[in-house]
Amino acid sequence: MEKPKTGHMVPRAVLFDAYGTLFDVYSVGLLAEQLFPGQGQALGLLWRDKQIEYTRLVTTSNEGAYYQPFWELTRAGLRYACKRLALHLTPEYELRLMNQYRHLSAFPETHEVLQVLKERGIVTGILSNGDPGMLEVAVKSAGLEGLLDHVLSVDSIRKYKTHPDAYALGPKAIGLPARQIAFVSCNSWDALAATWYGYQTLWVNRYALPFEELGTQPARTGTSLREVLEFFPSASAS
Ligand code: LAC
Repeated sequence: MEKPKTGHMVPRAVLFDAYGTLFDVYSVGLLAEQLFPGQGQALGLLWRDKQIEYTRLVTTSNEGAYYQPFWELTRAGLRYACKRLALHLTPEYELRLMNQYRHLSAFPETHEVLQVLKERGIVTGILSNGDPGMLEVAVKSAGLEGLLDHVLSVDSIRKYKTHPDAYALGPKAIGLPARQIAFVSCNSWDALAATWYGYQTLWVNRYALPFEELGTQPARTGTSLREVLEFFPSASAS
């Protein structure tokens, strides 16, 4: 566990990324492997990469004229990844994989961490590329209703992270400057851009990956959501 940089004030709110951070996409890889034996992992990785690439493509091109909600980009990413790997994606397989993506479970420590944050009076929320419909179902199926004060979707501004307008949704909704908000993501690019934006960031490195090589480090690096509690001195003292 790295120590936070000195001079940071204690945050008063926490925003979480959704996919891969609160919601475990592992089950999608399992189903992919079941449908396409030997190709599940490759499909999962390429699907995710394409999905994120498409968010950047539509955000940076033609002033957002080609924006599509995350659900549509997720489907487009799946179709591309299957074509690229020469996998035959039948309508039934597509439905099953997309349905799996819609109903994800939360990582095991999620409830407990959100509960402790609530008890400590910390404002909590999601700030995600996911569109409101996706996030609503995900929050419900993971049983997180009542544990989150804000569920913020970039769909309201039609610009995906890492556009600064997307990160600006947090301070605007919560009414605190970014430097007083902790931002938690498993995605290193998201943790990096949130740090650049001004949040105090925890990168949850679940899979022992290297951080981005662009010269900026997150305030903290951990291996589970539990490390977010270390932002709050009272939490680490108990
Ligand atoms: C999200 C994706 C990037 O929830 O994980 O925003």
